[in-house]
Amino acid sequence: MVLGVHAGKELTPAARRLDQAAGGALKQALGDLAGRTGSTLLLRALPGVAAERVLLVGLGEKKDYAEAAYREAVRAAGLALRELGARDAALFLVDGKVGARPLSWNVRHAVLGLREAFYRFDQLKTQKKAPASTLGHVFLPLSSNTQLQQALAEAQATADGAELARTLGNLPPNICTPSYLADEAKKLAKQFKLGVEVLERKDMERLGMGAFLAVARASHQPPKLIVLRYSGAAKGRKPLALVGKGITFDTGGISLKPAGEMDEMKYDMSGAASVLGAIRALAAMKAPVNLVGIIPTCENMPGGAASRPGDVVTSMSGQTVEILNTDAEGRLILCDALTYAARYQPEAVIDVATLTGACVIALGHVATGLFANDQKLADEIREAADDAWDRVWQMPLWEDYQEQLRSNFADFANIGGRPGGSITAACFLSRFTRELRWAHLDIAGTAWKSGREKGSTGRPVPLLVRFALGYA
Ligand code: BES
Ligand code: MN
Ligand code: ZN
Repeated sequence: MVLGVHAGKELTPAARRLDQAAGGALKQALGDLAGRTGSTLLLRALPGVAAERVLLVGLGEKKDYAEAAYREAVRAAGLALRELGARDAALFLVDGKVGARPLSWNVRHAVLGLREAFYRFDQLKTQKKAPASTLGHVFLPLSSNTQLQQALAEAQATADGAELARTLGNLPPNICTPSYLADEAKKLAKQFKLGVEVLERKDMERLGMGAFLAVARASHQPPKLIVLRYSGAAKGRKPLALVGKGITFDTGGISLKPAGEMDEMKYDMSGAASVLGAIRALAAMKAPVNLVGIIPTCENMPGGAASRPGDVVTSMSGQTVEILNTDAEGRLILCDALTYAARYQPEAVIDVATLTGACVIALGHVATGLFANDQKLADEIREAADDAWDRVWQMPLWEDYQEQLRSNFADFANIGGRPGGSITAACFLSRFTRELRWAHLDIAGTAWKSGREKGSTGRPVPLLVRFALGYA
């Protein structure tokens, strides 16, 4: 049994009932638990209690109890259960009011938090950890109704989608190549009866995708443009287009990156992974929405055939671009994918990309950078992001920034200097989306973690799923 305790030894109603059953033994044992958010204390063999083990989880000050504390408590409970090898649990955290959220919110975030805590990526280790740390049955003490059942189904599908994105992000770049991503899309198509199409280099040449092809030039891995379609709504309904950056490894090209932490550039396909994850989730829950996922994917490598700083290329839109830095490659593959997206006459287009280090400097690892040419769309995305606790912060996209992209030799350059680097990157993309309702998510800071906990996060799959459901 997992039970919550606030600071000052204030028991939640469920914990109070258990304490009564145990003749006050719970309160007595509380000694060490200060109730700090996310702290845990394990009790065994409490008198009068059938449960083998009782896990107390700190919820912090009762007056401050809200979303962040709930999420933290669920996560802490999940990590503790995993450490204990406890597969099955009754989670008496979900029944308490969290801010102004309905119970369905609690359910969704309980599932997502637990699944996140139990996630492992050990498929490339020869010695697997004991299988005891997989998740078994979790009992949620709520009286079931259709709304809660739906929340449960939504959360499970979202967790599966986020897990897919996470695993694709964690896979090394010698395995997760553009062809691997294309195969993954085909597998999803088969499993969920989606439409899928993979455009090859010659197709892109025919379409005039000079910007995309300029990035792929030096790689031995063939580039792919993946198109994945899910139709859950009426045929006539315009689709929501999701465009994901799929650089399976970003060396920087001729503008080579420094060696330190370059391995992390395997995550540069996280936008692509999140599009696959979101479509998987929405298809699995049979969401009443039409979606088209568009994924330009290739490697950014140096080499004899590589693009050079100074090269001028013609994008599919007809606009010419002076490549001043080959490391600003994401925008080059995305601009052609965005032009291509217009074919589907989407209601709205959202691109997702680990686009700039500057966004990490601006917003750190907490908020995804949000840019949009339509304020209503931006507001809808922010609301979905708050609900999914997969948060975004809107950045300006004012004309004033556009002049930084000036070029003496082409229509514009692919970089705008260091000031406002994430904004000028978005400005670059905005020149290809003038006819579209468009938003751009810069996930460079939120798609993965560095340091000891290095790994992919699966963001922003929860946000994309929530947004698409709201849109449906
Ligand atoms: N994939 C990187 C962005 C990135 C950097 C994501 C660090 C996460 C962490 C992107 O392709 C890139 O290299 N951007 C350059 C742009 C610059 C050359 C204008 C950057 O951010 O340094
Ligand atoms: Mn780059
Ligand atoms: Zn990149």
